[in-house]
Amino acid sequence: MDTKLLEALKQELKGIFGSVYEYGGGYGYRYQHGVRVMIYCQKIAQFPRFKNEKINLEALLTAALFHDIGKIVAVDKDGLLVYGDYGDKSHEIGGSEIAPKYLKKYISDQKLIDLICLIIKEQDRNVANTRIESSIIKDADRLDHQGVTHIWCSVTYANYQKKNVEAFEEFWKSDEGQVKFESSLNRYNFPEVAQIARKRLAKLKEFTQLMFSEQVGEDIVVDDQ
Ligand SMILES: [Fe+2]
Ligand SMILES: [Fe+2]
Repeated sequence: MDTKLLEALKQELKGIFGSVYEYGGGYGYRYQHGVRVMIYCQKIAQFPRFKNEKINLEALLTAALFHDIGKIVAVDKDGLLVYGDYGDKSHEIGGSEIAPKYLKKYISDQKLIDLICLIIKEQDRNVANTRIESSIIKDADRLDHQGVTHIWCSVTYANYQKKNVEAFEEFWKSDEGQVKFESSLNRYNFPEVAQIARKRLAKLKEFTQLMFSEQVGEDIVVDDQ
């Protein structure tokens, strides 16, 4: 894909979400998430399993960047992204309708825009998946929630909820925490990505465990000779 076009699309996304904040991630998180998902897709598309697959790279990378564009309707007057406030449709379906407004500034090929919008729409779990690009973005999106970056989101979210490390430990040990993260490992489309997710989750578990053990000074060993 043309690097100048990709850079221009990144800047467009930055203009849209750069100063938007959200509880789980802070300022500009939606922009950074879009860029990360795009970078992951760039790499995943090079896996040997896709060698004979016709992946439309422009569509893949642009849809990856803009896959959460539908969340823009949930941004309030203070720039806060209010989770779930997407009106009567999912943010994926809404996003597929909004995206052309931004993409038209950079892409003149209507067929390509239609394809990008289809891929964004297919991120909705209730929409049938017809494109390999949709499956790749789904895995990349899931992967972005599976590693130590999750700590950053938990910290910003705890600040909003006025909670502390103890509350994070409670969350992590509840059914919504570690257990849920582990069960989502079965939802990947491609085993290579699931394998990376497994490694990321192991690091996340190690990190959280270290943090919890420091709370009670587990690493301070008293030598009583
Ligand atoms: Fe999404
Ligand atoms: Fe996402």
